[in-house]
Amino acid sequence: MRTLRTVAEVRAALRGPRRAGRTIGLVPTMGSFHAGHLSLMQRAREQCDEVVVSLFVNPTQFDQAADLSRYPRNEATDALLASDAGVDYLFAPDVAEIYPAGFATTVTVAGITETLEGEHRGRGHFDGVVTVVTKLFNIVQADIAYFGQKDAQQARVIERLVRDLDIPVRIEICPTIREPDGLALSSRNAQLSPDERTRALAISRALQAAEAAVAAGERDAEEVARTARALMTSDGVEPEYLELVSTDTLAPVRMIDDSVLVVIAAQIGATRLIDNQIMAINGAT
Ligand code: PAJ
Repeated sequence: MRTLRTVAEVRAALRGPRRAGRTIGLVPTMGSFHAGHLSLMQRAREQCDEVVVSLFVNPTQFDQAADLSRYPRNEATDALLASDAGVDYLFAPDVAEIYPAGFATTVTVAGITETLEGEHRGRGHFDGVVTVVTKLFNIVQADIAYFGQKDAQQARVIERLVRDLDIPVRIEICPTIREPDGLALSSRNAQLSPDERTRALAISRALQAAEAAVAAGERDAEEVARTARALMTSDGVEPEYLELVSTDTLAPVRMIDDSVLVVIAAQIGATRLIDNQIMAINGAT
């Protein structure tokens, strides 16, 4: 595996393979790899001739400076993990390479960014994500880019971006990888104290409670949400939001007919976690 630091290095490294008709897969990340990131790399390895992983803790998508400075960084370990996963290139630029002096362009996806994470983290969050991902698409020019369902709204926003701007890349959304007890893997889990790690289980338990309510025949979305919220509260966690939304548009759902997405965000101590679960009825997807 080669570590590349500059846009010019990426272009030079990929020129030959692209000319030879080799397919290129891109996995955008902010590092501190866990099995969720590695599952995206494995999928890319299976489907593409060349696998590029970007590792860039993107400052413009953090709404709070303290959150950015606390964000875990482990490039040396990440390089070993990526190499073991069969990654060909690790693109790990510094901030000035991505945002050189005078940088003045922001890409905004409207509508779908205005609720949930966009509402609670502020508009700037998705502007930061969308702008850096647009740059990564232009730098790498991959055939396929891999994202996780763990960040459900981010995945829909990227799909919208690619459709709206005719960016020639196929987006693959990969399933959420969880700990055996249900907690969704996240780089932020490393920030949890043992007590917070226990309380964080309230999130996946609430998703399971919502699923059980739907499986038992409840179709009123607010009723399902009430059940799931009550479980979180009894586990000592107050959700920042817990909503049932359309899997495609992320608009609120009142009655559940085919499939629905349950999305949760919660602050556990100083750490903010998100999770979600798609629930399908009668084999719908
Ligand atoms: P990061 O949080 O590092 O996540 C990188 C990718 O891994 C995202 O597509 C995310 O959805 C996926 N991922 C995270 N946890 C996962 C899990 N438990 N199971 C499966 N996939 C998981 O998301 C970002 O970085 C950034 O916003 C980025 C897109 C790189 C732009 O800066």
